[in-house]
Amino acid sequence: MKIIQITDPHLVGPGEHLYDLDPAERLSRCVASVVAEHADAALCVFTGDLADRGALQAYGLLREILRPLPMPVRLLLGNHDDRQAFREAFPETPLDPAGFVQSVLDVPAGRLLFLDTLERGARGAGVLCPARLGWIGARLAEAPDRPVHVFMHHPARSIGVRHFEQMSLTAPDAFLDLVREHGGVRHIFFGHVHLPVWGRWGSLSFSAIRGTCQHIDLELDDPDVTFAEGSPAYGVILLHGEDVIVHQRDFLAPAPRFDAMTGRRLSAPPTN
Ligand SMILES: [Fe+2]
Repeated sequence: MKIIQITDPHLVGPGEHLYDLDPAERLSRCVASVVAEHADAALCVFTGDLADRGALQAYGLLREILRPLPMPVRLLLGNHDDRQAFREAFPETPLDPAGFVQSVLDVPAGRLLFLDTLERGARGAGVLCPARLGWIGARLAEAPDRPVHVFMHHPARSIGVRHFEQMSLTAPDAFLDLVREHGGVRHIFFGHVHLPVWGRWGSLSFSAIRGTCQHIDLELDDPDVTFAEGSPAYGVILLHGEDVIVHQRDFLAPAPRFDAMTGRRLSAPPTN
């Protein structure tokens, strides 16, 4: 099964820029690349920060930009989003009974869990409150023998970057206890950090990709970060049996290509 992960587009209003970047133009080129190269993907998941200031206009713009995608799309929220405005713009989005943007999807590779870690006033950190944790626990408990893959905006634990130490999932133990109790959670895919990172928290593997808008220079110990224009990317996830494979596709900057055997320079790749 192939899944596309797109994250942190940080859309603003039509025609507006953010840090001298055009988030809509970047996301449009990302979508064009997915359509050209991965139209066979079964699903496309956005792991949050859809709109930089949670404006209704930005969600309207998102709906327009997503239109060419041929596969189903799941939209998750990040700390920059506004749940009410999002729900107004995307009333068809599945919710949990408490109104959080949480849902589940059963596929041949197992159960996919889509979580909502947005909490107003949490200073950029993520929260899974008792209501959300209760829903997550129930969805895990009803699939005891199935592999589970989790998609969420915030990293559940530290990624070793000081800037994010106070901006990951708040009090993660209750969530991680549920994960441990289930025993079959294979991987957590998240966004939020605007840089590529992968690894394991104990036995639980994780990955994040760079996202489509502003990026963050890798500064492990600096409490502040620097935004970079960088090279936006999306993730190409392959779930096959027990295996989880994640590729990162840089879709914007067409670097020169060479034939691997002859060294001959090839014609320029498409610029989407
Ligand atoms: Fe973000």
